[in-house]
Amino acid sequence: SQSSTTASVPASNVLAAAKPAGKLTIIYASQTGNAKGVAQALQQQALAQDIAVNLVSAGDFKGKNLSKETHVIIIASTHGEGEAPDDAIELHQFLQSKKAPQLSNLHYGVIGLGDSSYEFFCQTAKDFDRYLAKLGAKPMLDRLDCDVDYEVAAAEWRTQALAKTKQTLSTGEAEVVQLPVGQNATSAATYTKQNPYTASLLVSQKITGRNSDKDVRHIEIDLEGSGLSYQAGDALGVWFENDPQLVDAILAKLDLDAATSVDVDGSNLSIRDALISHYEITASNPQFVTQYAKLSGSKKLQKLVDDREKLREYAANNQIIDVLTAKKTVLTASQLISLLRRLTPRLYSIASSQQEVGEEVHLTVGVVEFSQGDEQRQGGASSFLSQRLQEGAAVKVFVETNHNFKLPADDNTPVIMIGPGTGIAPFRAFVQERDNREATGKNWLFFGDRTFTEDFLYQVEWQKYLKDGVVDQIDVAFSRDQAEKIYVQQRILEQAPQVWQWLQAGSHVYVCGDATHMAKDVHQALLTVIEQQGKKTREQAEQYLNELRKDKRYQRDMY
Ligand code: 2AM
Repeated sequence: SQSSTTASVPASNVLAAAKPAGKLTIIYASQTGNAKGVAQALQQQALAQDIAVNLVSAGDFKGKNLSKETHVIIIASTHGEGEAPDDAIELHQFLQSKKAPQLSNLHYGVIGLGDSSYEFFCQTAKDFDRYLAKLGAKPMLDRLDCDVDYEVAAAEWRTQALAKTKQTLSTGEAEVVQLPVGQNATSAATYTKQNPYTASLLVSQKITGRNSDKDVRHIEIDLEGSGLSYQAGDALGVWFENDPQLVDAILAKLDLDAATSVDVDGSNLSIRDALISHYEITASNPQFVTQYAKLSGSKKLQKLVDDREKLREYAANNQIIDVLTAKKTVLTASQLISLLRRLTPRLYSIASSQQEVGEEVHLTVGVVEFSQGDEQRQGGASSFLSQRLQEGAAVKVFVETNHNFKLPADDNTPVIMIGPGTGIAPFRAFVQERDNREATGKNWLFFGDRTFTEDFLYQVEWQKYLKDGVVDQIDVAFSRDQAEKIYVQQRILEQAPQVWQWLQAGSHVYVCGDATHMAKDVHQALLTVIEQQGKKTREQAEQYLNELRKDKRYQRDMY
């Protein structure tokens, strides 16, 4: 229905009819690009309805200019423990501060993107909503908090939001507006999440050693003929299929017939096919456990549901199938899928530069595996890529641009790259790129993993880059090669004088990898370096790092 309304708009780019006088400003705060995607869709829809729009990243929007706006829609994702995306930190802080202006002339709407399995679900959006209301701005409609499968809900909200926007934007003099050429067309013809490219797997190779505790794969995917292009720092979205054996085990546990027909978006599929291709069936989440507890009547689960902390822990440590073992229940196939989330593609930081590999894309994939009693449990996408996908087989992919993780435009700029574990991926791309461009800026890599012999990812390549002078310095931290743990942040502290020198010389700093611990600890280590070497207070060090971030000299890609 959405597309038929937009399609009925005159195709002409020049609109002379009465159009609303004001303009709508769309501000997006994106860590992974999803919020930006929703913002762009809203922009397209608004343009199709003759509403003038201004689309801007939160990082490029000055908070004090809000008082000049009449209509603003904020689309904000949340990451980690309720933190705002890096790009939005400033605006987020500004709106809570005493400097924030009164906004009684402002009509606004907010969409949050998040993951309801986290405690601070859509926190950034909730904050923006609260701050704006407190400053006197008027909500045009209720905030929408979207879960991981946000497309349908977001599309409905957009339609409502634009209807409200139109109502409150006064109709002014006819004005001739030249819409940006091509804005209405799909001429870009790129592949997207909903319209992925069917590529094929070229190589899947284990790059951790035989005795490693971890299984990390180097994956190469063929993009020949797709016209797909990407830049170092971008991610690849990968659609996957679930393990049919896991599907069968789930069906057996619930005593469901694999052929039972269920409705998925208006099509009839067997429950088996639906579970293989359309639903998430690996990780569980508090919502699933709660709903299943109700339906199953399991006493044990119902007890859990009352204790938030225990519920979270249980959901984190048990996959869907483990929750289902609670009790054999009378759950119908349709009830089962109503409890599950729609399958969503995984984003992997790209590990190659097109200048080096042409029409290919490389990934560094950590295979998620753990044991649950006697059973082996696996991650959905990583087990698909590493075990079920044969070389030569089809895999659906799309490129997810990441504007917040880009090499400096100036090739003379030095870069410090901190990427333990699979966080190394984008730095392989960075160095390939800098090598091909013959960039003169210096490159410094910090890498860490468990052991030197088993887990030094791409060791041979790094040693060659070092020998050839492409990479100037590599500092490694192998956490389990000695009695006490050594991590990358410790190496950063050991190199404090030199890290400070590089910073003062204009270096960019990039961090990729684990968000929960590593990125936080590295952040603290950088603050300590700045504090000690720059002879600053902690607060001044924070300001310094904050300035780096604003200048896009401190960029992070965390998961
Ligand atoms: P560990 O598993 O031996 O504790 C890549 O996964 C590397 O990151 C491993 O060596 C891992 O160490 C290490 N790591 C774990 N926690 C970390 C933290 N808080 N900061 C930095 N590295 C960490």
